[in-house]
Amino acid sequence: MKVLVTGGAGFIGTHIIVCLLERGHDVHVLDDFSNSSEKALKRVKNITGKFIRFTKGSILDGALLSYLFANESFDSVIHLAAFKAVGESSTNPLKYYENNVVGTLVLSRAMKNFGVKRLIFSSSATVYGDGVQMPLTESSCVQDPTNPYGRTKLMMEQILTDLAKSDPSWDITVLRYFNPVGAHSSGLIGEDPNGIPNNLMPFVSQVAVGKRDKVSVFGNDYDTPDGTGVRDYIHIEDLALGHVKALEKQNSDQRGSSRNIKIYNLGTGRGYSVLEVIEAFSRASGKKIPYEIVKRRPGDVAKCWADPSKSELELGWKATRDLIQMCRDAWNWQVNNPEGYE
Ligand SMILES: NC(=O)c1ccc[n+]([C@@H]2O[C@H](COP(=O)([O-])OP(=O)(O)OC[C@H]3O[C@@H](n4cnc5c(N)ncnc54)[C@H](O)[C@@H]3O)[C@@H](O)[C@H]2O)c1
Repeated sequence: MKVLVTGGAGFIGTHIIVCLLERGHDVHVLDDFSNSSEKALKRVKNITGKFIRFTKGSILDGALLSYLFANESFDSVIHLAAFKAVGESSTNPLKYYENNVVGTLVLSRAMKNFGVKRLIFSSSATVYGDGVQMPLTESSCVQDPTNPYGRTKLMMEQILTDLAKSDPSWDITVLRYFNPVGAHSSGLIGEDPNGIPNNLMPFVSQVAVGKRDKVSVFGNDYDTPDGTGVRDYIHIEDLALGHVKALEKQNSDQRGSSRNIKIYNLGTGRGYSVLEVIEAFSRASGKKIPYEIVKRRPGDVAKCWADPSKSELELGWKATRDLIQMCRDAWNWQVNNPEGYE
Protein backbone atom coordinates (compact mmCIF):
# COMPACT_ATOMS: atom_id res chain seq x y z
CA MET A 1 0.00 0.00 0.00
CA LYS A 2 1.05 3.58 -0.52
CA VAL A 3 0.74 5.43 2.76
CA LEU A 4 1.02 9.09 3.69
CA VAL A 5 2.44 9.37 7.22
CA THR A 6 1.92 12.80 8.78
CA GLY A 7 4.38 13.52 11.58
CA GLY A 8 6.41 10.58 10.29
CA ALA A 9 9.79 12.01 11.37
CA GLY A 10 8.82 11.92 15.06
CA PHE A 11 9.42 9.31 17.75
CA ILE A 12 6.46 7.09 16.92
CA GLY A 13 6.44 7.89 13.19
CA THR A 14 10.01 6.73 12.51
CA HIS A 15 9.31 3.36 14.14
CA ILE A 16 6.09 2.96 12.15
CA ILE A 17 7.92 3.77 8.91
CA VAL A 18 10.55 1.12 9.60
CA CYS A 19 7.77 -1.40 10.15
CA LEU A 20 5.86 -0.30 7.01
CA LEU A 21 8.96 -0.45 4.81
CA GLU A 22 9.97 -3.84 6.20
CA ARG A 23 6.54 -5.18 5.30
CA GLY A 24 6.81 -3.91 1.74
CA HIS A 25 4.62 -0.80 1.91
CA ASP A 26 5.43 2.46 0.18
CA VAL A 27 5.78 5.50 2.44
CA HIS A 28 5.60 9.26 1.99
CA VAL A 29 6.27 11.40 5.08
CA LEU A 30 4.77 14.84 5.62
CA ASP A 31 6.42 16.64 8.54
CA ASP A 32 7.18 20.26 9.33
CA PHE A 33 10.06 19.13 11.62
CA SER A 34 8.70 21.32 14.43
CA ASN A 35 9.61 18.55 16.86
CA SER A 36 11.94 16.33 14.84
CA SER A 37 14.75 16.41 12.33
CA GLU A 38 15.57 15.05 8.90
CA LYS A 39 18.38 13.10 10.54
CA ALA A 40 15.78 10.73 11.99
CA LEU A 41 14.63 9.84 8.47
CA LYS A 42 18.25 9.23 7.40
CA ARG A 43 18.55 6.76 10.28
CA VAL A 44 15.39 5.00 9.05
CA LYS A 45 17.10 4.65 5.70
CA ASN A 46 20.18 3.17 7.45
CA ILE A 47 17.99 0.57 9.16
CA THR A 48 15.84 -0.42 6.20
CA GLY A 49 18.15 0.32 3.27
CA LYS A 50 15.15 1.94 1.63
CA PHE A 51 14.64 5.41 0.31
CA ILE A 52 12.03 7.52 2.13
CA ARG A 53 10.15 10.17 0.26
CA PHE A 54 9.28 13.15 2.40
CA THR A 55 7.78 16.61 2.09
CA LYS A 56 8.67 19.33 4.55
CA GLY A 57 5.43 21.13 5.36
CA SER A 58 2.47 21.43 7.66
CA ILE A 59 -0.88 19.65 7.79
CA LEU A 60 -2.30 23.17 8.23
CA ASP A 61 -1.28 23.98 4.66
CA GLY A 62 -4.35 23.02 2.58
CA ALA A 63 -2.70 23.97 -0.73
CA LEU A 64 0.29 21.75 -0.01
CA LEU A 65 -2.00 18.86 0.92
CA SER A 66 -3.98 19.30 -2.31
CA TYR A 67 -0.74 19.23 -4.27
CA LEU A 68 0.37 16.04 -2.52
CA PHE A 69 -2.95 14.23 -2.94
CA ALA A 70 -3.22 15.31 -6.57
CA ASN A 71 0.25 14.03 -7.41
CA GLU A 72 0.46 10.82 -5.38
CA SER A 73 -2.13 8.08 -5.26
CA PHE A 74 -2.27 7.30 -1.56
CA ASP A 75 -4.27 4.31 -0.35
CA SER A 76 -4.26 5.42 3.27
CA VAL A 77 -3.11 8.05 5.71
CA ILE A 78 -1.54 7.44 9.11
CA HIS A 79 -2.05 10.71 10.94
CA LEU A 80 0.44 11.33 13.75
CA ALA A 81 1.28 15.04 13.30
CA ALA A 82 0.38 16.88 16.50
CA PHE A 83 1.83 18.72 19.45
CA LYS A 84 1.92 16.49 22.52
CA ALA A 85 3.37 18.30 25.55
CA VAL A 86 0.68 18.10 28.22
CA GLY A 87 2.11 20.96 30.35
CA GLU A 88 2.53 23.34 27.42
CA SER A 89 -1.01 22.60 26.30
CA SER A 90 -2.24 24.20 29.55
CA THR A 91 -0.08 27.30 29.21
CA ASN A 92 -0.66 27.71 25.46
CA PRO A 93 -3.96 25.95 24.62
CA LEU A 94 -4.59 27.84 21.36
CA LYS A 95 -1.37 26.47 19.90
CA TYR A 96 -2.67 22.95 20.61
CA TYR A 97 -6.23 23.44 19.40
CA GLU A 98 -4.97 25.05 16.22
CA ASN A 99 -2.27 22.55 15.30
CA ASN A 100 -4.03 19.39 16.44
CA VAL A 101 -7.72 20.07 15.81
CA VAL A 102 -7.56 22.53 12.89
CA GLY A 103 -4.73 20.50 11.35
CA THR A 104 -6.90 17.37 11.45
CA LEU A 105 -9.79 19.27 9.83
CA VAL A 106 -7.57 20.54 7.01
CA LEU A 107 -6.17 17.06 6.45
CA SER A 108 -9.61 15.38 6.50
CA ARG A 109 -10.93 17.95 4.04
CA ALA A 110 -8.09 17.24 1.61
CA MET A 111 -8.61 13.48 1.99
CA LYS A 112 -12.31 13.88 1.27
CA ASN A 113 -11.66 16.10 -1.77
CA PHE A 114 -9.32 13.54 -3.27
CA GLY A 115 -11.33 10.46 -2.27
CA VAL A 116 -8.70 9.02 0.10
CA LYS A 117 -10.89 7.76 2.90
CA ARG A 118 -8.79 5.32 4.86
CA LEU A 119 -7.30 6.85 7.96
CA ILE A 120 -5.42 5.58 10.99
CA PHE A 121 -5.52 8.19 13.75
CA SER A 122 -3.16 8.59 16.74
CA SER A 123 -5.19 9.01 19.85
CA SER A 124 -4.26 8.60 23.46
CA ALA A 125 -5.37 6.98 26.70
CA THR A 126 -5.65 10.53 28.06
CA VAL A 127 -9.12 10.70 26.45
CA TYR A 128 -10.39 8.42 29.25
CA GLY A 129 -9.74 11.04 31.94
CA ASP A 130 -9.62 10.22 35.62
CA GLY A 131 -11.76 8.10 37.93
CA VAL A 132 -12.52 5.39 35.38
CA GLN A 133 -12.50 1.69 36.37
CA MET A 134 -9.32 -0.24 35.39
CA PRO A 135 -8.52 -1.84 33.03
CA LEU A 136 -9.74 0.59 30.40
CA THR A 137 -11.75 -0.91 27.59
CA GLU A 138 -12.54 1.07 24.47
CA SER A 139 -16.07 1.52 25.74
CA SER A 140 -15.02 2.70 29.23
CA CYS A 141 -16.96 5.87 29.73
CA VAL A 142 -14.91 8.64 28.12
CA GLN A 143 -14.79 11.40 30.69
CA ASP A 144 -13.41 14.88 30.57
CA PRO A 145 -9.66 14.58 29.86
CA THR A 146 -7.51 16.30 32.48
CA ASN A 147 -5.69 18.73 30.14
CA PRO A 148 -6.11 20.64 26.83
CA TYR A 149 -3.87 18.18 24.95
CA GLY A 150 -6.19 15.32 25.93
CA ARG A 151 -9.19 17.41 24.94
CA THR A 152 -7.73 17.99 21.46
CA LYS A 153 -7.48 14.20 21.08
CA LEU A 154 -11.07 13.70 22.26
CA MET A 155 -12.33 16.44 19.92
CA MET A 156 -10.50 14.91 16.98
CA GLU A 157 -12.02 11.52 17.78
CA GLN A 158 -15.48 13.13 17.86
CA ILE A 159 -14.90 14.93 14.55
CA LEU A 160 -13.76 11.70 12.91
CA THR A 161 -16.74 9.81 14.35
CA ASP A 162 -19.14 12.35 12.81
CA LEU A 163 -17.27 12.16 9.53
CA ALA A 164 -17.53 8.36 9.46
CA LYS A 165 -21.24 8.53 10.26
CA SER A 166 -21.84 11.03 7.48
CA ASP A 167 -20.36 8.87 4.76
CA PRO A 168 -20.05 5.05 4.84
CA SER A 169 -17.15 5.04 2.40
CA TRP A 170 -14.78 6.34 5.10
CA ASP A 171 -12.80 3.70 6.98
CA ILE A 172 -11.26 5.17 10.11
CA THR A 173 -9.28 3.43 12.83
CA VAL A 174 -8.57 5.28 16.06
CA LEU A 175 -5.66 3.90 18.08
CA ARG A 176 -5.52 4.92 21.72
CA TYR A 177 -1.91 4.60 22.85
CA PHE A 178 -0.94 3.99 26.41
CA ASN A 179 2.67 4.98 27.24
CA PRO A 180 5.03 4.34 24.32
CA VAL A 181 8.65 3.89 25.47
CA GLY A 182 11.87 2.15 24.46
CA ALA A 183 13.58 2.45 21.10
CA HIS A 184 14.35 0.44 17.98
CA SER A 185 16.52 -2.59 18.73
CA SER A 186 19.24 -1.22 16.39
CA GLY A 187 19.77 1.76 18.74
CA LEU A 188 19.62 4.04 15.67
CA ILE A 189 16.22 5.65 16.31
CA GLY A 190 14.51 6.57 19.56
CA GLU A 191 12.88 9.36 21.53
CA ASP A 192 14.75 12.67 21.27
CA PRO A 193 12.92 15.09 23.54
CA ASN A 194 13.50 18.82 23.23
CA GLY A 195 14.67 20.25 26.57
CA ILE A 196 13.36 18.69 29.76
CA PRO A 197 11.55 15.43 28.98
CA ASN A 198 7.84 15.37 29.88
CA ASN A 199 7.67 11.62 30.16
CA LEU A 200 9.16 9.35 32.78
CA MET A 201 11.31 6.93 30.74
CA PRO A 202 13.34 9.53 28.79
CA PHE A 203 13.88 11.41 32.06
CA VAL A 204 15.08 8.28 33.86
CA SER A 205 17.33 7.47 30.96
CA GLN A 206 18.91 10.98 31.03
CA VAL A 207 19.57 10.55 34.76
CA ALA A 208 21.16 7.15 34.12
CA VAL A 209 23.50 8.61 31.49
CA GLY A 210 24.44 11.50 33.81
CA LYS A 211 22.69 14.36 31.97
CA ARG A 212 20.40 15.04 34.95
CA ASP A 213 20.93 14.61 38.70
CA LYS A 214 17.81 12.81 39.80
CA VAL A 215 14.31 11.80 38.86
CA SER A 216 11.46 13.79 40.41
CA VAL A 217 8.72 11.37 41.39
CA PHE A 218 5.46 13.32 41.39
CA GLY A 219 3.60 12.08 44.47
CA ASN A 220 3.82 8.88 46.52
CA ASP A 221 0.40 9.15 48.12
CA TYR A 222 -1.76 7.82 45.28
CA ASP A 223 -4.06 4.88 45.83
CA THR A 224 -1.58 2.40 44.29
CA PRO A 225 0.56 -0.39 45.84
CA ASP A 226 3.64 1.83 46.43
CA GLY A 227 1.82 5.17 46.28
CA THR A 228 3.39 6.27 42.97
CA GLY A 229 1.48 6.59 39.68
CA VAL A 230 0.87 3.41 37.68
CA ARG A 231 0.96 3.36 33.87
CA ASP A 232 0.77 0.86 31.05
CA TYR A 233 4.12 1.17 29.23
CA ILE A 234 4.30 -0.23 25.72
CA HIS A 235 7.41 -0.89 23.65
CA ILE A 236 7.56 1.42 20.64
CA GLU A 237 8.16 -1.49 18.25
CA ASP A 238 5.01 -3.23 19.50
CA LEU A 239 3.09 0.03 19.08
CA ALA A 240 4.42 0.49 15.53
CA LEU A 241 3.31 -3.01 14.55
CA GLY A 242 -0.19 -2.19 15.85
CA HIS A 243 -0.47 0.53 13.17
CA VAL A 244 0.59 -1.77 10.39
CA LYS A 245 -1.88 -4.43 11.55
CA ALA A 246 -4.65 -1.82 11.62
CA LEU A 247 -3.71 -0.65 8.13
CA GLU A 248 -3.65 -4.16 6.73
CA LYS A 249 -6.98 -4.93 8.42
CA GLN A 250 -8.58 -1.93 6.72
CA ASN A 251 -7.26 -3.17 3.40
CA SER A 252 -8.69 -6.65 3.86
CA ASP A 253 -12.07 -5.53 5.29
CA GLN A 254 -15.08 -4.89 3.10
CA ARG A 255 -15.63 -1.20 2.42
CA GLY A 256 -18.89 0.45 3.35
CA SER A 257 -19.60 -1.66 6.45
CA SER A 258 -21.76 -0.12 9.14
CA ARG A 259 -18.79 -0.09 11.52
CA ASN A 260 -16.63 2.29 9.56
CA ILE A 261 -14.93 3.80 12.61
CA LYS A 262 -13.17 1.45 15.00
CA ILE A 263 -11.34 2.23 18.19
CA TYR A 264 -8.55 0.12 19.70
CA ASN A 265 -6.37 0.34 22.78
CA LEU A 266 -2.66 -0.21 22.16
CA GLY A 267 -1.28 -1.19 25.56
CA THR A 268 0.08 -4.30 27.25
CA GLY A 269 -2.67 -4.69 29.83
CA ARG A 270 -0.20 -4.41 32.71
CA GLY A 271 0.58 -1.38 34.84
CA TYR A 272 3.92 -0.49 36.44
CA SER A 273 4.54 2.13 39.11
CA VAL A 274 7.11 4.91 38.77
CA LEU A 275 9.33 3.17 41.33
CA GLU A 276 9.10 -0.13 39.44
CA VAL A 277 10.21 1.63 36.24
CA ILE A 278 13.17 3.24 38.02
CA GLU A 279 14.17 -0.13 39.46
CA ALA A 280 13.84 -1.91 36.08
CA PHE A 281 15.85 0.81 34.32
CA SER A 282 18.55 0.59 36.95
CA ARG A 283 18.81 -3.17 36.36
CA ALA A 284 18.83 -2.79 32.55
CA SER A 285 21.49 -0.06 32.57
CA GLY A 286 23.57 -1.17 35.55
CA LYS A 287 23.39 2.45 36.81
CA LYS A 288 22.15 3.82 40.09
CA ILE A 289 19.20 6.14 39.53
CA PRO A 290 18.73 8.69 42.31
CA TYR A 291 15.21 10.02 42.77
CA GLU A 292 13.29 12.30 45.10
CA ILE A 293 9.61 12.39 45.93
CA VAL A 294 8.01 15.74 45.17
CA LYS A 295 4.40 16.85 45.24
CA ARG A 296 1.82 15.59 42.77
CA ARG A 297 1.74 17.16 39.31
CA PRO A 298 -1.60 18.71 38.34
CA GLY A 299 -3.45 16.71 35.69
CA ASP A 300 -1.79 13.35 36.49
CA VAL A 301 -4.10 10.41 37.12
CA ALA A 302 -3.30 7.76 39.79
CA LYS A 303 -3.43 4.72 37.52
CA CYS A 304 -4.07 3.84 33.96
CA TRP A 305 -3.79 0.55 32.11
CA ALA A 306 -5.45 -0.99 29.11
CA ASP A 307 -7.62 -3.94 28.36
CA PRO A 308 -6.00 -4.76 24.97
CA SER A 309 -8.20 -7.82 24.22
CA LYS A 310 -10.21 -6.13 21.44
CA SER A 311 -6.98 -5.35 19.53
CA GLU A 312 -5.87 -8.96 19.90
CA LEU A 313 -9.20 -10.34 18.76
CA GLU A 314 -9.86 -8.00 15.82
CA LEU A 315 -6.41 -6.85 14.68
CA GLY A 316 -4.50 -10.00 15.60
CA TRP A 317 -2.09 -7.78 17.52
CA LYS A 318 -0.59 -8.25 20.96
CA ALA A 319 2.35 -6.51 22.67
CA THR A 320 5.14 -9.02 23.29
CA ARG A 321 8.01 -7.02 24.81
CA ASP A 322 8.29 -6.65 28.59
CA LEU A 323 9.40 -3.74 30.78
CA ILE A 324 13.03 -4.92 30.95
CA GLN A 325 13.20 -5.04 27.15
CA MET A 326 11.73 -1.52 27.00
CA CYS A 327 14.39 -0.26 29.44
CA ARG A 328 17.22 -2.12 27.66
CA ASP A 329 16.32 -0.63 24.28
CA ALA A 330 15.79 2.87 25.71
CA TRP A 331 19.20 2.60 27.37
CA ASN A 332 20.89 1.30 24.20
CA TRP A 333 19.53 4.32 22.30
CA GLN A 334 20.50 6.77 25.08
CA VAL A 335 24.05 5.47 25.49
CA ASN A 336 24.73 5.46 21.75
CA ASN A 337 23.08 8.85 21.17
CA PRO A 338 23.56 10.92 24.35
CA GLU A 339 22.58 14.08 22.44
CA GLY A 340 19.79 12.41 20.46
CA TYR A 341 20.09 13.00 16.71
CA GLU A 342 22.52 15.94 17.18
N1 LIG B 1 4.56 9.75 22.68
C1 LIG B 1 3.49 9.57 23.44
O1 LIG B 1 3.61 9.36 24.65
C2 LIG B 1 2.10 9.60 22.84
C3 LIG B 1 1.03 9.05 23.55
C4 LIG B 1 -0.25 9.07 22.98
C5 LIG B 1 -0.45 9.65 21.74
N2 LIG B 1 0.60 10.20 21.08
C6 LIG B 1 0.37 10.82 19.78
O2 LIG B 1 1.17 10.18 18.80
C7 LIG B 1 1.52 11.09 17.77
C8 LIG B 1 3.02 11.05 17.55
O3 LIG B 1 3.66 11.32 18.78
P1 LIG B 1 5.25 11.28 18.96
O4 LIG B 1 5.52 10.85 20.35
O5 LIG B 1 5.89 10.59 17.84
O6 LIG B 1 5.55 12.85 18.89
P2 LIG B 1 6.67 13.63 18.07
O7 LIG B 1 6.60 15.05 18.48
O8 LIG B 1 7.97 12.93 18.18
O9 LIG B 1 6.13 13.46 16.58
C9 LIG B 1 5.14 14.29 16.03
C10 LIG B 1 5.65 14.78 14.70
O10 LIG B 1 4.66 15.63 14.12
C11 LIG B 1 5.33 16.75 13.54
N3 LIG B 1 4.35 17.83 13.48
C12 LIG B 1 3.75 18.51 14.49
N4 LIG B 1 2.88 19.39 14.01
C13 LIG B 1 2.89 19.26 12.66
C14 LIG B 1 2.20 19.90 11.59
N5 LIG B 1 1.32 20.87 11.82
N6 LIG B 1 2.46 19.51 10.33
C15 LIG B 1 3.37 18.53 10.08
N7 LIG B 1 4.05 17.90 11.03
C16 LIG B 1 3.83 18.27 12.32
C17 LIG B 1 6.52 17.01 14.44
O11 LIG B 1 7.56 17.71 13.80
C18 LIG B 1 6.94 15.59 14.82
O12 LIG B 1 7.87 15.07 13.87
C19 LIG B 1 1.00 12.45 18.23
O13 LIG B 1 -0.25 12.65 17.61
C20 LIG B 1 0.82 12.27 19.71
O14 LIG B 1 -0.18 13.13 20.22
C21 LIG B 1 1.87 10.18 21.59
